[in-house]
Amino acid sequence: SQYQVAIIVGSLRKASFNRQLAQAIAKMAPAGWTFTSVDISQLPLYNQDADGQEVAVVKQFRDAVRSVDAVLFVTPEYNRSIPGVLKNAVDQGSRPYGQSVWDGKPAAVIGMSVGAIGTALAQQHLRNILAYLNMPTLGQPEMFLQAKDGFFNADGSIGENSNAYVQNFVDQFASWVLQHKK
Ligand code: FNR
Repeated sequence: SQYQVAIIVGSLRKASFNRQLAQAIAKMAPAGWTFTSVDISQLPLYNQDADGQEVAVVKQFRDAVRSVDAVLFVTPEYNRSIPGVLKNAVDQGSRPYGQSVWDGKPAAVIGMSVGAIGTALAQQHLRNILAYLNMPTLGQPEMFLQAKDGFFNADGSIGENSNAYVQNFVDQFASWVLQHKK
C-alpha cells in the first residue's frame, strides 16, 4: 500500500490490552494504509558503548522505523509514566547521535489502562520525549481508554461504545501524517 505506519506497543505482556488495541487499530487503517507492529521485546538495553556496533536485532528495529511514514505508539501507563521497555526502544532508535530514526516522523499516541485516567500521564510524558525527538505528534483527538468488559468484541474488534471514537482517531492521524510527513 501507499503509506506505512509502524505501531509500537509499550507492553510485552502476552494478553496486553494495548497489544489487543494495536491489533484492532491495524485493521482500521484507511484504504491505502498499512499499520504494522514493530517488535521491541528482543531489543537489548541501550548502552552507548554499542554505538557503531549495531547488533542485528537493533539494526532490524532501526531499519523498520526508518522505512515507514509515521509511528503510532500504543502504550500502557506504568507508575504514571511509560514502561521502561518503551523508553528503551525510543532510546535505541535515537542513536548513534545524529542518526535518529525518529527525526521528523509524524506520530500519534494512544493507550489503555485498567485505571480511570487511562494512561493520560504516560501519554503526556511520551509527548515530551517525542517533542525533543522532533516528531510532529497529533494533538487531537486524545484517546484515554479504560479496559472494561465489552471494550473488545469476541473477534478482537472494538466494541460499539468506542469503535467510532477510535476510528476517528485513526482517520485524523492519517490526515495528520499526510500533512506532516517528510
Ligand atoms: C501498572 N498499572 C497502572 N495503571 C495506570 O492506570 N496507571 C499507572 O500508573 C499504573 N502503574 C502500573 C505499574 C506497573 C509496574 C504495572 C505492571 C501496572 C496497571 C496497568 O494499567 C495494567 O497492568 C494494564 O493491563 C497494563 O497494560 P497492558 O499490559 O494490558 O497493555
